[in-house]
Amino acid sequence: MTDNNTTKNLTREQARRRLRELIQQIEFHNRQYYVLDDPQITDAEYDALFRELRDLETRFPDLKSPGSPTERVGAPPREDFAKVERTVGMLSLANAMNEGEILDFDRRIHELLGTDRPVQYMVEPKFDGLSIELTYENGNLVLASTRGNGWVGEDVTPNAMTIRNVPHRLSRIDGGPLPALIDVRGEVVMLKRDFIALNQARERTGEPLFANPRNAAAGSLRQLDPAVTARRPLTFYAYTIGRLEDVELESQQELLEFLRGLGFTVSTECRLVEGAGQVIDEYRRFLNLREDLPFEIDGMVVKVNSFALQRRLGFVARSPRWAVACKFPPEQKVTKVRDIIVGVGRTGVLTPVAVLEPVDVAGVVVKRATLHNMDELRRKDVRIGDQVVVQRAGDVIPEVVRVLTERRDGSEQVFNMPETCPVCGARVVRPEGEVAYRCTNVSCPAQLRETILHFASREAMDIEGLGPALVAQLVEKGLVKSPADLYFVKREDLAGLERMAEKSADNLVNALNASKKRPLNQVIVALGIPFVGTSTARTLANHYRSIDALSRATEEELQDLEDIGPKVAQAITTFFAQPENRVMLERLRAAGVNMSASESETGASAASPLAGKTVVFTGSLQRFTRKQAQDLAAAKGAKVTSSVSSRTDFVVAGENPGSKYDKARKLGVTILTEQEFQAMLEASD
Ligand code: IVH
Repeated sequence: MTDNNTTKNLTREQARRRLRELIQQIEFHNRQYYVLDDPQITDAEYDALFRELRDLETRFPDLKSPGSPTERVGAPPREDFAKVERTVGMLSLANAMNEGEILDFDRRIHELLGTDRPVQYMVEPKFDGLSIELTYENGNLVLASTRGNGWVGEDVTPNAMTIRNVPHRLSRIDGGPLPALIDVRGEVVMLKRDFIALNQARERTGEPLFANPRNAAAGSLRQLDPAVTARRPLTFYAYTIGRLEDVELESQQELLEFLRGLGFTVSTECRLVEGAGQVIDEYRRFLNLREDLPFEIDGMVVKVNSFALQRRLGFVARSPRWAVACKFPPEQKVTKVRDIIVGVGRTGVLTPVAVLEPVDVAGVVVKRATLHNMDELRRKDVRIGDQVVVQRAGDVIPEVVRVLTERRDGSEQVFNMPETCPVCGARVVRPEGEVAYRCTNVSCPAQLRETILHFASREAMDIEGLGPALVAQLVEKGLVKSPADLYFVKREDLAGLERMAEKSADNLVNALNASKKRPLNQVIVALGIPFVGTSTARTLANHYRSIDALSRATEEELQDLEDIGPKVAQAITTFFAQPENRVMLERLRAAGVNMSASESETGASAASPLAGKTVVFTGSLQRFTRKQAQDLAAAKGAKVTSSVSSRTDFVVAGENPGSKYDKARKLGVTILTEQEFQAMLEASD
């Protein structure tokens, strides 16, 4: 290789000089590429420089400088992320959902400022990544932290140091002095092309794929092992600051220039505009630009440019009055309905589902979309062969928005609900007053499959490895006729199933055994009583403390409990009155499945600081799912509710907390960070 040849016969002194040269060149090209958006060499040439540097450093390890560009490989893994408290909170933005709301924003600004003259605004991409703060002391990166709940974040310094365009040391392009202290804030994203390449590589190695660039970026940054982050291609875009010493800036425009001058990547799509009309023009420009941008955006941010005006406008709750996030409507795509099929649910309800020509909508390939029910299908008049608009908003199931009837050519076929169940052939009925069509066969294999899948799901018995393909086989072979049968299937029977290796049969047996110890609330969920989800199950478990006691409850008694109305109460008593359900419960008991609440689950362990307290969760947690956190709190005897009042003891605030957070602050309710909450959980362990 030429690199090796050029570096092979160097003396120590020559190597030292070459190393310095290489670092200077690489830093120069980094700046051209990331900051100025004006690369002077090709990627291959850049890679060659980088390789030469690495080779030379390998040969002369003692000459390697600590700030070398090759150092971005990550520090050793840690046990946990340390907490970082801020004096200048990282706030969120109010949203404008359409052009009308953008005009409202401008109108409000004029009212508040008492002026008719057009206001200058900076418009910026609204990056769809995760926000972080980088703290530099005397030009050196000393701390990187996630946003967390705005006031308390997590220390991700070693991870952020591996991001290729995060400067470890600042230098002003104009040679001016560096601030003694600056917090640079912005977004960590994964560029679309990097995301595609990463997923392709993961596909080749059989690793699970990331759903979209945002998830990939978030999953990559929050790694306890920074070496993992180092292998992921992340990019940082700066857009604002926290603390700043020694420097006076007058406007957002100056700030962005200043950040660029310090060596940060600032989007070249930021524009200074005047008046509402130009803001709307920019919103439309961003909408058109969206597909072609190298990173994903979910809107545009508008900021009053002048800092003097920003100060006059101030803040309301946790958002500045001087800025707004103009969100984009959910991404929509046109595709073709190949077929309409019918799914049979746990309760026998038949749901029409559109089978689509696969299409990428906001980073996820959509192949199916629910049509909800026949009334919906008729209202939208979806036919087989139609061209339709589909959309995904957030994490919701994709849906058909409307049919492009103007594109019909007459070959489209109207769909009718089959008269017999597509799975078992039993008669399909539509009960009086109901929207739903149902299969009349109580032992329909589809219903049984769904019942078993529900029983095994995470919120219920959490049986790992028991997925749809396996359940289908168990039902088809007649090995399982009710959830309780799962615990009586023999190992040999399992091993005989298709694609079931020895090892997986063992794993499944272990998973089944482990599931017998699930807490009472999960067992209640698993029973599949209509309307009884995780929250109701928790209420029931806390109150009755055993399946036996619950099975004896009367409707009146049940209705005395919070959140339980007549409909739910009736569903519960009906469930326990049915002989086949009683048989199932006895078999579960015989299998050794837990049927009662343990001491700690009922809050009897008064030692826990959470016992007897009313707790509300808001925002997204990092370490637990919302449900896990609620369950853990309930297991310590806490009462988990959904709204904040003066009776609330704690509000646990994760990332991007909602209005509950503001209400808690107003009422003076104690707000816990995720870490503090975890500490409380552990306090009585
Ligand atoms: S400025 C007080 N500028 O949007 C203003 N935020 O809800 C603070 N975001 O958490 C933020 N692009 O993660 C700002 N150009 C941009 C942004 C941006 C994306 C995110 C940021 C923040 C959220 C606000």
